[in-house]
Amino acid sequence: MRYTVKDLIKKKSTEKIVAMTCYTVQYSKTLDNYADLLLVGDSLGMVIYGHNNTLSVTMRMMIDHGKAVVKSTKKSLIAIDMPYGSYEKDKFRALESASHILEETNACAVKLEGGADITETVEFLTQKGICVIGHVGLMPQKVKKNEKFKLKGNDKEEEKKILTDAKSLVEAGASLIVLEAIPERLGRKITKNSDIPTIGIGAGRFCDGQILVTEDLLGIFDQFTPKFVKKYANLKSEIDSAVKKYHKEVKNGNFPSLKNIYK
Ligand code: KIV
Repeated sequence: MRYTVKDLIKKKSTEKIVAMTCYTVQYSKTLDNYADLLLVGDSLGMVIYGHNNTLSVTMRMMIDHGKAVVKSTKKSLIAIDMPYGSYEKDKFRALESASHILEETNACAVKLEGGADITETVEFLTQKGICVIGHVGLMPQKVKKNEKFKLKGNDKEEEKKILTDAKSLVEAGASLIVLEAIPERLGRKITKNSDIPTIGIGAGRFCDGQILVTEDLLGIFDQFTPKFVKKYANLKSEIDSAVKKYHKEVKNGNFPSLKNIYK
């Protein structure tokens, strides 16, 4: 049975929530064994498609990867990022995009970046029965081209804004909130003040769960690795040595003939 948003909300008081990004079938079956929540994040624009940021990710990309992940998993709750440009205009546009994503993929929830600025939209989507995951702190879709991703909430003014953003999302009916790149004390405060789970990514130990980009934790994406990422493997160098070995053997004519394979 697949986890529902209600199941994840119940975990707030009982256990930490394990979340990872997932974009392809290559990883989905393994991740599904360990994750409570898998996010088809728009970070796929950078990780899979090699873009410099997430701004050029399209609805089509999110839907195609979302479909593949939903079809190949059984247990984790699957959430899909709403790409840049698909929800900001107004709540009706947001509903159209969210419905399109959920109908095509069969996923459980959508994630939107924003706080007080999108509460009307979040409220409208939840009233229409759509499960919404909020995302505050560092919001990659709001980082301008050529700007760097950096910690948010270090000064009083930013801290106040992030607290207000998180509170507005909870009041608007969001089911979970992602807290990205904020100080631990702020992650702790928001977690304590919210009755929905907080999922941190660089937001410290006190969040109700953690999400990482899977390719970061596996050490396979080296274009940009945030400071808070712990690498659990170094697959990039494993792949390099395997391919190097293959290259050498083929160059030496050392590949099996049909006779050897079928003997
Ligand atoms: O797009 C993404 O992968 C995300 C997570 C890092 C939270 O938004």
